[in-house]
Amino acid sequence: MARSSMHGHWSSRLAFILAATGSAVGLGNVWKFPYVAGENGGGAFVLVYVACVLLLGWPVMMAEVMLGRRGRHSPVNTMRILAEEERAPRAWTLLGWLGIVAGFLILSYYSVIAGWTLAYTVRAAVGVFDGITREGVEQVFGALVADPERLLAWHTIFMALTMVVVARGVEHGLERAVRFLMPALFLLLLLLVGYAMAQGDFARGVAFLFKPDFSALTGQAVLAAMGQAFFSLSLGMGAIMMYGSYLPQHASIPRTTFTVAMSDTAVALLAGLAIFPIVFGEGLAPDQGPSLIFKTLALAFGHMPAGALFGSLFFLLLVFAAWTSAISLIEPAVAWLIESRRMRRVEAAVWAGTVAWLLGIGTVLSFNAWSGYTLWGRTFFDLLDYLTSNVMLPLGGLAIALFAAWVMREASVREEIELPGRAFRLWHAVLRYVAPAGIVLIFLNAVGAF
Ligand code: PHE
Repeated sequence: MARSSMHGHWSSRLAFILAATGSAVGLGNVWKFPYVAGENGGGAFVLVYVACVLLLGWPVMMAEVMLGRRGRHSPVNTMRILAEEERAPRAWTLLGWLGIVAGFLILSYYSVIAGWTLAYTVRAAVGVFDGITREGVEQVFGALVADPERLLAWHTIFMALTMVVVARGVEHGLERAVRFLMPALFLLLLLLVGYAMAQGDFARGVAFLFKPDFSALTGQAVLAAMGQAFFSLSLGMGAIMMYGSYLPQHASIPRTTFTVAMSDTAVALLAGLAIFPIVFGEGLAPDQGPSLIFKTLALAFGHMPAGALFGSLFFLLLVFAAWTSAISLIEPAVAWLIESRRMRRVEAAVWAGTVAWLLGIGTVLSFNAWSGYTLWGRTFFDLLDYLTSNVMLPLGGLAIALFAAWVMREASVREEIELPGRAFRLWHAVLRYVAPAGIVLIFLNAVGAF
């Protein structure tokens, strides 16, 4: 019964791990995790985040990869095929559509932030940060985001880079790039942690990240932690389903997904360990939002030996990490255009990229011309970010868990996931009860239902 994908397959289990890690590790770990943790009070948030990764994220990731490998198509068509096979309503294809919409929305702002990273690569390289002061970092960041033309230019460059890779097909190049770049990023993060130990307020940074203060934990903070887990693991919108559809038939899903989930979490925690000691050492505010790492890292690289070299290298690696994530955000839509609209890959990539690029202009403007327009106190960018991470991805994860654990026949699931008896029952029970209940309760708690 095994199908094969018309878009190609990974050459091995390792290739899948690399590609999925490439998708998972990105701005979510290095940029978003520290600032969201900072806004939500640190320790308790981090604890809930790690619990969400283990109890909700990993089990749902296994399910998402499993669905992808069984369907072997873009998420929309995979869900249609699997729903037919399991005699379930066609409405399950909506899960695929939700993912495509979420992918466009996320990519639209992701590309703008990746653009900041490109801009910082150049600034670091030419020595803008050398010996910089606290006022200096505010000024450099402020000047960048105040200028829509500059933001648009970087956003355009990043989106074009993404389209180029997607147009060529994701198996080409991605594997090799990730194999070398991920370890390099990891090493530079370690270097930064070393710097934070020596020069920052390391004790306070560690306490902030790991000493839970549950009085700071609001319903919204718990929701943000769950949203961050889904966002960082690339879950709930079909990216991982798509990559699962390229997975060789007999690669172990539990083991591969565990490796991906753990590497992703390790990178996020390392980024936190690098950032917060510097934040406290320099007297910066931990809850200043999306600018947090750009200011903090500019200070760090501005004061370490060979900072221009390390700084530009670090931001460049972060651009690469963002690039491999951006590719996975748009791949489900592109695969669908190829399968169902009979487009050539190049055409599909250009269409999809253009739509995401246009949407991104909203985010560009939300930092300057439109910064005064807010809804519930949130700018256009804040709204997109909240809606995708905290609502759409967990909803997608919920639907994946329900489909895999309640709709699919147990025999089909067993055949695809290949887990030994007890482990299977444990995972299946988590997917049936724990994950759906957890997601629903966190939603209800956040809207103040109890
Ligand atoms: N996981 C990516 C990151 O942490 C972002 C992403 C989200 C990618 C959803 C694909 C799907 O940067």
